[in-house]
Amino acid sequence: MLRRALLQASTRGLFSSSPLSLASLRQCSSSSSSHNSQISNDHFVEHLDDTPQPPATATISIDRSSLYHPPEHSHESSADSELVKHLKNIIKFRGGPITVAEYMEEVLTNPKDGFYMNRDVFGAGGDFITSPEVSQMFGEMVGIWAMCLWEQMGQPKRVNLVELGPGRGTLLADLLRGASKIKNFTESLEIHMVEVSPALQKLQYQNLKCVTEDGGDGNANKRCVSTLAGTPVSWHATLEQVPTGLPTIIIAHEFYDALPVHQFQKASRGWSEKMVDLTENSSFRFVLSPQPTPASLYLMKRCKWAETEELAKVSHIEVCPKAIDLTQEIANRIGIDGGGALVIDYGLNGIVSDSLQAIRKHKFVDILDNPGSADLSAYVDFAAIKHSAEEVSEDVSVHGPMTQSQFLGSLGINFRVEALLEKCNEEQAESLRTGYWRLVGDGEAPFWEGPDEQAPVGMGTRYLAMSIVNKKQGVPVPF
Ligand SMILES: C[S@@+](CC[C@H](N)C(=O)[O-])C[C@H]1O[C@@H](n2cnc3c(N)ncnc32)[C@H](O)[C@@H]1O
Repeated sequence: MLRRALLQASTRGLFSSSPLSLASLRQCSSSSSSHNSQISNDHFVEHLDDTPQPPATATISIDRSSLYHPPEHSHESSADSELVKHLKNIIKFRGGPITVAEYMEEVLTNPKDGFYMNRDVFGAGGDFITSPEVSQMFGEMVGIWAMCLWEQMGQPKRVNLVELGPGRGTLLADLLRGASKIKNFTESLEIHMVEVSPALQKLQYQNLKCVTEDGGDGNANKRCVSTLAGTPVSWHATLEQVPTGLPTIIIAHEFYDALPVHQFQKASRGWSEKMVDLTENSSFRFVLSPQPTPASLYLMKRCKWAETEELAKVSHIEVCPKAIDLTQEIANRIGIDGGGALVIDYGLNGIVSDSLQAIRKHKFVDILDNPGSADLSAYVDFAAIKHSAEEVSEDVSVHGPMTQSQFLGSLGINFRVEALLEKCNEEQAESLRTGYWRLVGDGEAPFWEGPDEQAPVGMGTRYLAMSIVNKKQGVPVPF
């Protein structure tokens, strides 16, 4: 009952003008938004972006959920980048191959040359697209989820709102704009951005429209505040650095898929770890480890969580120790401080076999080709997240996964898109329909009349949502 009431209150609050507890929640748009156009229910004309970017339908933009089977290795010869030299040096000085996880971690987050570290990789001009960049409705719906949880938590006066891997900061910007009229909620928030990339931290600062205030004694106590809702914002490299002691809401959208995976392959001698090595002419190639590796412990743990039949079907397994450790940190924190986490990503509710993929400029490329110039990501093993959380804390419960389509649908995205469609011109309507399809659709959009290769492909069933909450909060909306 409570869940239904909360959900009705939240969606009606967003999409109607009736004075409910969350009734004044409305989207305020911004001219510097990264979306095609920010559209608000009732301030449409006033707030509409003056110079809307071309609709998403005019560009090919790839999300990262398609499975890809790369060729074994690349022979392409080119002048080595600094990161390639660095990787080759690690392999040479160690006198042997490195794990796929080490390779992935260096490629993505090497402090000097990692893929994420120095630039904006999102959107049509970047390498891939994510849901918050597709439509403002995504951040708004996650905002409704967060507000419902906050209500279930008893509307605490102070809450940590943590986003892991916030990219451009678009999701939180849309969440704050959408929630800006629910003052009790926004005034309770202390936002913590867990972001490893200095370049993206800067972009997040801009997109959250942050200002830096002096704490009174010069530079010593500088405080950032997002002017979107007057909330304090701070940045951290890891979740461990976020202060404990307050109830916490954690959002991890397309964060887990960037965590490094170890790959194992069934060989005649049993499971062997796949490694990255160098050929005689100094190209990267995959090899199999002849003996057990330290990550085999995590493989054993993962296999214990699987059914015999499930294991019998696979000849490759990916395990992600960092995902297990992160989930356990989340579960411990929520178990003690209260609150909950939302994980949305592409993945499976079971063992992930061989999903690591590389994307550069919206095209799949070889994983070993020019590392650092393409994104690497892997399917998320939601079953492992559930087991990891339950293993460390008896005070949390895990809900889902459900499809992104079910998640957004239950939170009221259909009402939101209808309300927005009533107030826009044809070009904006096209963009909204496309964005909506990409968020909740399955396969290629049936309404599409443009070139086949540009048909928007729905992320609605390939992306899954899961929530970990303190048991005191009950079952989170909309699970
Ligand atoms: C795929 S992007 C997702 C961005 C955003 N959540 C979105 O959906 O648009 C991954 C994000 O996680 C950050 N990231 C990747 N690995 C990280 C790590 N180990 N620690 C902190 N941030 C990391 C990246 O810099 C980036 O912001």
